[in-house]
This record gives sequence, C-alpha cells and structure tokens, in this order.
Amino acid sequence: MCISADIQTLMLTMLILLFIIGIVVCGFIFSKTTKGIPKSWFEWKTEFRYQYLGIVGLIHDARYASRDRVVLYKQPDRIAVITGGNRGIGLRIVEKLLACDMTVVMGVRDPRSAEVAVGGIVDLSQTKGKLICEQLDVGDLKSVRAFAERISQKYQKIDLLLNNAGIMFAPFKLTADGYESHFAINYLGHFMLTHLLLPKLRAAGQKGKNARIVNVSSCVNLIGRINYKDINGLKNYYPGTAYSQSKLAQILFTRHLQTLLDAEKAHVQVNVVHPGIVDTDLFEHSATTAVPFFKKIFFKTPERGSRTVVFAAIDPSIEGLGGTYLSNGGKGPFHADAKQPEKCEKLFQHSCDLLKIKQYGNGEYTL
Ligand SMILES: NC(=O)c1ccc[n+]([C@@H]2O[C@H](COP(=O)([O-])OP(=O)(O)OC[C@H]3O[C@@H](n4cnc5c(N)ncnc54)[C@H](OP(=O)(O)O)[C@@H]3O)[C@@H](O)[C@H]2O)c1
Repeated sequence: MCISADIQTLMLTMLILLFIIGIVVCGFIFSKTTKGIPKSWFEWKTEFRYQYLGIVGLIHDARYASRDRVVLYKQPDRIAVITGGNRGIGLRIVEKLLACDMTVVMGVRDPRSAEVAVGGIVDLSQTKGKLICEQLDVGDLKSVRAFAERISQKYQKIDLLLNNAGIMFAPFKLTADGYESHFAINYLGHFMLTHLLLPKLRAAGQKGKNARIVNVSSCVNLIGRINYKDINGLKNYYPGTAYSQSKLAQILFTRHLQTLLDAEKAHVQVNVVHPGIVDTDLFEHSATTAVPFFKKIFFKTPERGSRTVVFAAIDPSIEGLGGTYLSNGGKGPFHADAKQPEKCEKLFQHSCDLLKIKQYGNGEYTL
C-alpha cells in the first residue's frame, strides 16, 4: 500500500506537534511548585506565573553568565554575619567571605554541623578567615533576640549582615510567635535581626566604606502581593503565594530602610539580591525533585548562586548605591510596588507595629 506524500507530511507534522505538546506538559508537571495537583483556578494561575518566571529566570541566568562575577579581595579587619550558611548558596557565601580573610559569624540552627559543613569545603586550619557558628532560628523571635544580644556583646562593630536563610513552598505552618513560616523566616525574623544589629552596623560604616546589609530575595518577588488582610494566608493558603509574598516583603523593606539610612546620613547601605535559579535543597517541596538531572543541567551551581550575593556585600563598584535590586552582577527587574515609597513604608510600618518597634534601628525591643 502506498501512502501519498501529503498524508506522510501530515503524519509527520502531527508527530512533531504531539512531541512538542508532550515536552510542554512534562515541563509543566515536573516544574510545579508543589508535588500535588493545583486544586483551584487561583492555584493553577499561580503555577503558570511561576513557570513563566522560571523560564525568564533561566534565560536571564544564561544570558548574563559572563557578568555574574565577584572579585574577592582581602579584608581581614571586617566582620560578617550571615543567617544560614550551613548548606546551599549560604555555604558558598561563607567560603568566599573566609577567602577574603574576614571573621564570619554564622547564625545557624545547628552550630556543630555547620562547622563540619564549612570544614568540608574550607581548610579551617589554614584559612586566615575566622569562623564562628552561633545558634539561631530566624523563625523564632526569641532566638533572634538571643543571637543578636550574644554577638552584640562580643563585637564592637559588624561590617556585613547577610540575610540569607530561607524556606520555599513549605506546607502551612505557624511559628511559635504565630506567623506563617515563610513570612516569619524569610522576612520578619530578618527584619527584627537587622533592627537589633543596626547600631553595630552604624559603628562599622565609614565615609567611602559603608557597612552593608544584603537581603537575599528572589525573582518571584515580581508575582508577590502583600496580603495585609490575611498576612498568614489562613483563608487561602498556597505555598507559592506565601513564598512570593515573603520575597516581595524583603524588597519593600530594603527600599524603605535605605530611605531611612539616607535621611540619617548613616554609612550603611542595604541591597537586595536575586541569586539566580540555583540547584539547592530549597526545591525539596517542589516537583523538580523528580528530575534532578534537569536541575544539574539548567540551574546554577550553589557556587555561582553565591556570586551576586557576595558582589552586593563587598564590591567597590556599588559603594553608595544602596536600595538596588541586583541579579547576575547587575541591576534586575523588580516589582512595581517597590518603586512606590508609600507602599514600601506601609509594609515597614506594619512590621514595626507587629514587632512593637518604636524606633527602627535603635536595637531596642519590648516584645
Ligand atoms: N535556590 C534558588 O534557586 C534560590 C532562588 C532565589 C532565591 N533564593 C534564596 O536564597 C536563599 C538561600 O537559599 P538556598 O537555595 O541556599 O536554600 P537551602 O539550600 O535550602 O538553604 C537554606 C538555608 O536556610 C537555613 N534556614 C532555613 N530555615 C531557617 C531557620 N528557621 N533558621 C535559621 N536558618 C534557617 C537553612 O538551615 P537548616 O539547614 O538549619 O535548615 C539553610 O542554611 C534563600 O533566602 C532563598 O529564598 C534561592
């Protein structure tokens, strides 16, 4: 039997179409923020938005790979404080800061294993940098206060504060203080920690050599929304929404804090970073865990993911450029709300009210 050329072409086109549809469907299934199936239009819409941002993010990482660099230089007199750092991007940030001969204070949930983790990639007997591991659960305000008190007593000044610790797409959970876990860990705990350590950062900053705060946010801030009516997402909890809210919050916080620091002419600057899409445990709750090879091929390594964060912390080219959102070693696109000072101030004030902070940055607390 002889099939005409037209039918052969049609069949071939159908096969190619089916193949493309198959790739798109698999791509969608294996890059969902959740291992489950979205249950409502709101959840589907959130997934589509994440997929779009994921693709745009991967393209941005590939396009600007050559710009994603940081020059490490010796600065043995500087003291850096980082939240997390025992794994993922944070571990590679610590490695770089130690290579600059800094004193690095890690705020971690398990100080002993954190030291072992750093010792696994840095020869601690040889490095001129100094490592100190202190207990900190950023999701627990009591622990944040105890950590800040301990290191404030130990050090006269702090040159760098890297608010790195975070969680993503976690199932709903309230912290002991009664806040949804993404909001508490990614944002509010760091907001409190920065308030408590600002006196020490002010003490470190000098004209031409600002002390620096770096908030590690994410490109998903672009789809974030601060839900003031239900900040804990009690009514309609979806992990992706909680994560993007917390990452937008970090940017609004950064922008307003820089305005305050400028007004008081403090030698402190605060920047916010998207580290790229990085192959770390952060994706543990997402469907991408089923396709580890995809992450290995397309995502940044944690070492690459740490570069723009360290760039924001030490690079002389951004001295005096606080309030900037950085991605792949340069400026990146961020949420329109963060360009409106009143929206930044609104969240800032809301957070001060929640934490009963009367004057932000004086290091005092009542709660
Ligand atoms: N990976 C990415 O593609 C990506 C993209 C954009 C932004 N980011 C941001 O980059 C930052 C680092 O993420 P990562 O990819 O390195 O994730 P990761 O490998 O999962 O590491 C998360 C870090 O945060 C710490 N942490 C979590 N909850 C904590 C708590 N309650 N108290 C103290 N430390 C806590 C973890 O410590 P434990 O070991 O104790 O849990 C760990 O050190 C996060 O803020 C994340 O949102 C990452």
